[in-house]
Parts: sequence; structure tokens; C-alpha cells
Amino acid sequence: METMAPDVLISEEDIALRVEALGKAITEEYQGQEVTVICVLKGAFMFCSDLIKKINLPVKLDFVALSSYGDGTASSGTVKMELDLAESIKDKNVIIVEDIVDTGLSMKTLVQLLEARGPKTLKVASLLYKPSKTKHSVSIDYMGFEIEDKFVIGYGLDYAGRYRELPYIGVLNAGN
Ligand code: IMP
Repeated sequence: METMAPDVLISEEDIALRVEALGKAITEEYQGQEVTVICVLKGAFMFCSDLIKKINLPVKLDFVALSSYGDGTASSGTVKMELDLAESIKDKNVIIVEDIVDTGLSMKTLVQLLEARGPKTLKVASLLYKPSKTKHSVSIDYMGFEIEDKFVIGYGLDYAGRYRELPYIGVLNAGN
């Protein structure tokens, strides 16, 4: 299969610095407490893995998967939970860790679903945010980077199942 290197939008070094700062902010905010980190599969796996290494607190990790865009680059307009949490989040300090908030529909749906389960606190960390695309208001407590309305790949994010392994956030150009 032919692969071409995408253009770099956010470098590996810049991601690492930002992730470290987010981990520090979470550590300071929850001093003396345990946090339950919920990784939204598949896109957030790399961000989540790096982030929890920078949280200096007892961390529990759980996973959810939401229905995705399929092979396209536009939202289907419906979100389904494809994989549910393994453990209860009742009375827990929950932090949802997501790769990107685009229209906001996925995050809004997930927040509503998890709020109903009675966590002690519920916050959102998202590596990326596309403000120009937002249709559903979502409050992002820990945000990595605001980006323009471009379809991005890498560092966990895919296009048709590919490019997740790239260590940086990239943009596909016309040639690839
Ligand atoms: P939303 O529901 O429109 O906010 O979309 C959120 C989900 O769409 C993310 O968790 C990603 O899986 C996917 N997504 C949105 N924008 C992009 C992008 O630029 N690249 C890759 N995936 C994206």
C-alpha cells in the first residue's frame, strides 16, 4: 500500500509539552484523591496513555467506545455506545479523555450518559477542539489545542482506520 507523509500540524514535541501541562493541572486539581480516567476508544488511546503517565495521583482506567464516522470525514449525526465501562463510576472523580471535539455531539451524548450514573465529579479532557465546527456546546475542562476546521490524523486519530500510529498530528494534503 502506498503511503505518503502527511503535513505536520502539531509536532510530537509540542504534544508532549502540552500533555505534561494537562497532567500537572489535573494532579493539582485532585490533590489527595483518586481519579477515574475514561479513555474514549479508539482515537484517544495514545493521548490517554501519555496523559495518565503525567498524572501524579492514584488513577483507575476504563474504556468506552462510541460509534464513529465510519470511513468518511463527516459525522453521521447519531452516536451509539459500542463498548460500555467495565466498572461503576458512582461517587468517583471521572475524567473523560477524548481525542477531538468536533461538532460536540459525541461528547455531549457521553457526558449525559455518564452524568446519569452519579459520579462525584465529571470533567472532560480533549486533546483537540475545532471551535468553528461546534454545534453542541460542551465544556472542555482540560484542552490540548484549538485547531482550524481541517481533518486531522495521527497520534491516535484515523482516516478510514489508518494513520493512528503517527507520533504527531498531521493533515492529509492533496497528494495523499
Ligand atoms: P463530534 O461528535 O462531531 O464532536 O466528533 C467526535 C469524533 O469524530 C472524534 O472522537 C473523532 O473520532 C472523530 N473526528 C472528528 N474530527 C476528526 C478529525 O479531524 N480527524 C479524525 N477524527 C475526527
